[in-house]
Amino acid sequence: MNSITRLAALISLASLFPLSAIAAESKGTVEVVHWWTSGGEKAAVDVLKAQVEKDGFTWKDGAVAGGGGSTAMTVLKSRAVSGNPPGVAQIKGPDIQEWAQTGLLDTGALKDVSKEEKWDSLLDKKVSDTVKYEGNYVAVPVNIHRVNWLWINPQVFKKAGIDKAPTTLEEFYAAGDKLKAAGFIALAHGGQPWQDSTVFEDVVLSVMGSDGYKKAFVDLDDKTLTGSDMVKVFTELKKVATYMDPNRAGRDWNLAAADVISGKAGMQLMGDWAKSEWTAAKKIAGKDYQCVAFPGTDRSFTYNIDSLAVFKGKDNAKNGTTAAQQDLAKVTLGEDFQKVFSINKGSIPVRNDMLSNMDKYGFDSCAQTAAKDFLADAKTTGLQPSMAHNMATTLAVQGAIFDVVTNYINDPKADPETAAKQLGKAITSAK
Ligand code: BGC
Repeated sequence: MNSITRLAALISLASLFPLSAIAAESKGTVEVVHWWTSGGEKAAVDVLKAQVEKDGFTWKDGAVAGGGGSTAMTVLKSRAVSGNPPGVAQIKGPDIQEWAQTGLLDTGALKDVSKEEKWDSLLDKKVSDTVKYEGNYVAVPVNIHRVNWLWINPQVFKKAGIDKAPTTLEEFYAAGDKLKAAGFIALAHGGQPWQDSTVFEDVVLSVMGSDGYKKAFVDLDDKTLTGSDMVKVFTELKKVATYMDPNRAGRDWNLAAADVISGKAGMQLMGDWAKSEWTAAKKIAGKDYQCVAFPGTDRSFTYNIDSLAVFKGKDNAKNGTTAAQQDLAKVTLGEDFQKVFSINKGSIPVRNDMLSNMDKYGFDSCAQTAAKDFLADAKTTGLQPSMAHNMATTLAVQGAIFDVVTNYINDPKADPETAAKQLGKAITSAK
C-alpha cells in the first residue's frame, strides 16, 4: 500500500468510526484551579485527576504555581470578576464563607452527594462548619495538614555532632550553631511572605502557647498583638532568622526542602506538605528524616485543611459540569482516595473514622503522630487554625500580618517593640 492509499484507507476508517465512538465520550468537564505544583504535590493531585477521568469526566487542569496559594487566589479573583470562574477551586478557611457570600459558590451541587455519603457523620464539626455556608456544603474538605513541624536530616545532624532533635528554642539555637560551624545551612528557608509567616506563627505558638496564639490570630486581641509576649516573639524570630539560608530571597518551599533532603541543610520549618517532597524522593520517615513539633509546641497542632469549592455556572447542569463536580466530591471523601492522596501529600485524612485507625491504612510515623496529636489536641485548646495558611483570619488581615513580618525579618535595623506596635496597627486597619 503506498502512502496515498494508506491515507485514503485511514480516512474511510475514520468516517466509519467517528472519534466519539473510538474514545469514550466525556460525561462532562470540570476545571480545577489549585496550587499543587511541586513534585510531591503533583503526585498527590494526579490521583484525583486519574479517578475523575476513570469515572468518565474530563479534568481541565487549572494549576497555578506558587506555594501557599497567593498567586492562585489572585488568578481566581480576576477570573471571577471577569465572569469566568472554574468549576472547582482550592479555597480554604474563612475565605470559603467570603466567596459564598458573593453568591458565586454553588449551594445546591453537593446537597445529594453529601447526604448519600453521610459527610456530617464522617467529619468533625469544626471541619464541616468551615466548608458549609448557611447549612449547605459549598466545598469538599480534602485533607488535614499540620503546620508546626520541624523537618530534620539526621545524617546532617550527626555530621554536625548533634545527637537529638531540639525540643526548646535554646536547643534549637544550639543545634543551629553546630550546623553552621560544620559548614551546613542550619535552616533551609524560602524568603517569601507566607513562608516567613509560617515561621512567625510557630514562634508565637512556642512563646505564647495555644491560648496566646488564639488571642493573637483568632480573636485579634490588640493587647496580645502589641504586648510584651509579642515583643518576645519578635525578638526570638530575629534570632531564628539568623539561622536561615542567606540565599533565601524568593526561594520556593520545595527547593528549601530539597536542600535538607540532599544534605546541604540540617532543618526546615514547614507544614507537612514538605513530607511530599521526601516521599517523592523515596525517603523513609523516622529513618532518612525526622519530623518533630516546632520546639515548645508539642502540645499544639496548627491545622490547615485543604478544600475544593464548587462554583456556579449557568450551563453547569446541561454540559455535565455539575455531575463532574459531584463525582470529584464523592471521590475526594472516599476511603481509598483519602489514603492514597494523604500518603503522597504528607497530610492526614479528614475522615474521623480513618484518623482513629491510621495503622490499618499503612501511614508512616509522621502521619501517625499527626493523627494522634490532632485527636488529642481537639479535646483541649491545642488545636488551632493556621494563620499563615488562611485558616484563622480573612485574607486582608493575613496580608497585613505578612507585610509586618516579612519587613521585620528583612530589615537589619528592625526593632521588636516597634514591630509589635506595627502589627497591632496593621491588623486594626485591615479588620
Ligand atoms: C496548602 C498545601 C500546599 C502548600 C504549599 C498550603 O497552603 O494548604 O496544600 O501544599 O500550601 O503550596
